[in-house]
Amino acid sequence: MDLRILVLYLTCVFFKNSASVDNRTFPETFKFGSATASYQVEGAWNEDGKGENIWDHVCHTNPDFIAEDDNGDVAADSYHKYKEDVALLKELGAHYYRFSISWARIVPKGIAGSPINQAGIDYYKRLIQELVDNGIEPMVTMYHWDLPQTLQDIGGWPNAELVAHFAYYARILFENFGDNVKLWLTFNEPKQTCLDGYGLAGMAPAYGSIGIADYRCTHTVIKAHARAYRLFEEEFKAEQQGKMGMVVDTAWFEPGSDSDQDKEAAERALQFTYGWFANAIVNGNYPQVMIDRIDARSKAQGYTISRLPEFTDDELEYIKGTHDFVALNIYGAVNVTWKEETDVNDVGYWSDLNVNEQGIDGPWGMRKAVNWLSKTYNNPEIIITENGLARPRGLDDDDRINYIREYLSSLLEAILDDGVHVTRYTAWSLIDTFEWRSGYTTTLGLYEVDFDNPDRPRTPKASAGYYANVIKTRCLLDACE
Ligand SMILES: *[C@@H]1O[C@H](CO)[C@@H](O)[C@H](O)[C@H]1NC(C)=O
Ligand SMILES: *[C@@H]1O[C@H](CO)[C@@H](O)[C@H](O)[C@H]1NC(C)=O
Repeated sequence: MDLRILVLYLTCVFFKNSASVDNRTFPETFKFGSATASYQVEGAWNEDGKGENIWDHVCHTNPDFIAEDDNGDVAADSYHKYKEDVALLKELGAHYYRFSISWARIVPKGIAGSPINQAGIDYYKRLIQELVDNGIEPMVTMYHWDLPQTLQDIGGWPNAELVAHFAYYARILFENFGDNVKLWLTFNEPKQTCLDGYGLAGMAPAYGSIGIADYRCTHTVIKAHARAYRLFEEEFKAEQQGKMGMVVDTAWFEPGSDSDQDKEAAERALQFTYGWFANAIVNGNYPQVMIDRIDARSKAQGYTISRLPEFTDDELEYIKGTHDFVALNIYGAVNVTWKEETDVNDVGYWSDLNVNEQGIDGPWGMRKAVNWLSKTYNNPEIIITENGLARPRGLDDDDRINYIREYLSSLLEAILDDGVHVTRYTAWSLIDTFEWRSGYTTTLGLYEVDFDNPDRPRTPKASAGYYANVIKTRCLLDACE
């Protein structure tokens, strides 16, 4: 253990141990990791042949889109400092590192058949080799929101043609990295890509066509995921022995009361959020409640067909079962109550869903969420691919320690008491990152990055010491049973 870590750990063991935290240990087979994403940490936005992506584009053409007019041009400079990042993972004792590959670094123009950028491939080979040399397993996200701008110029994800362009990119990844990468995540939080990026104007490319472009976007993303999975299955899996899934995010939706109406509303919210993607890749189609509600509302609005596109029978078969595990990003809980149907003419995802939602503090939602996944998707392997706390800068992040401890305690109970098959927990994020619209005004890192210093030095926060101890002892408190 690094001396810096030890000092921080000694500080944090004096915290009052909350009575609600479980004092048993995580199973020996359970793995702990941490994560980042390409645009959020790499910088080097136009170096070594990388193409422009939609985040480069929106930050450069519309700086007001981001807090303090910031951008990811340099970010944490991980493109140059990746060895330091790996050293931090080693210091934590992390079993694996979840990072994402920048599509435009590999295929600058994005288009199937367009030139491949060898320098980009070489960068990820160096990063992966550094991880392997340090005994840290690479877990790769293939798409974490940074679409090559050329593909946005032809309409982005609502354009079904992107399935083929994604498959071209996916093949390059399997061919070049599949010898060392055994865990693939096709898409990160597609709900944010599609609802915030195309439905609303909250994320790049800030399209703003709610209830229409968002549904078309998800239709393409689900097909692109299935295409990548089948390609891998048919040509690479036997030899490479990798596993693949899609990262889907949801809060835990807690019924506001015991009434059947509130329970139905909470289940509907889960289906519209997690089920939107997971029901398709597990069972082959959108959740029935989405199909029925969007169809009925579309007809009432004068459409002759549903705004939710339909998969053909062949597509349903092709998409069904394209996962080796279920992956969850979870940050919070929401109190849901049933809502009267009001304005039928309102075209949009939220009115298609139509429930009342209120954010609440609920680490106990972790246990309920993984139980729900287990029950809804036939007891799959479950990987927590993100969980963490956004807070202001600062090294004394006791609130983050409490947050991680309470979520992990809830997860531990799901594993030990409910028998839910959860195998990994990923703390978001390893280092402070460019947090999208918030720029650098909020942080989630276990390590602080000084974004005002050209060298971007990393410094451990108290939470890094706490997490390192959890990984070492598998215990959330000073002592366990
Ligand atoms: C959820 O909201 C309902 C209705 O406002 C309220 O009665 C209930 O106490 C809330 N539950 C939680 C856990 O906040
Ligand atoms: C663990 O918790 C149980 C019940 O909450 C308690 O009886 C026991 O003493 C605790 N063990 C340790 C080592 O703190």
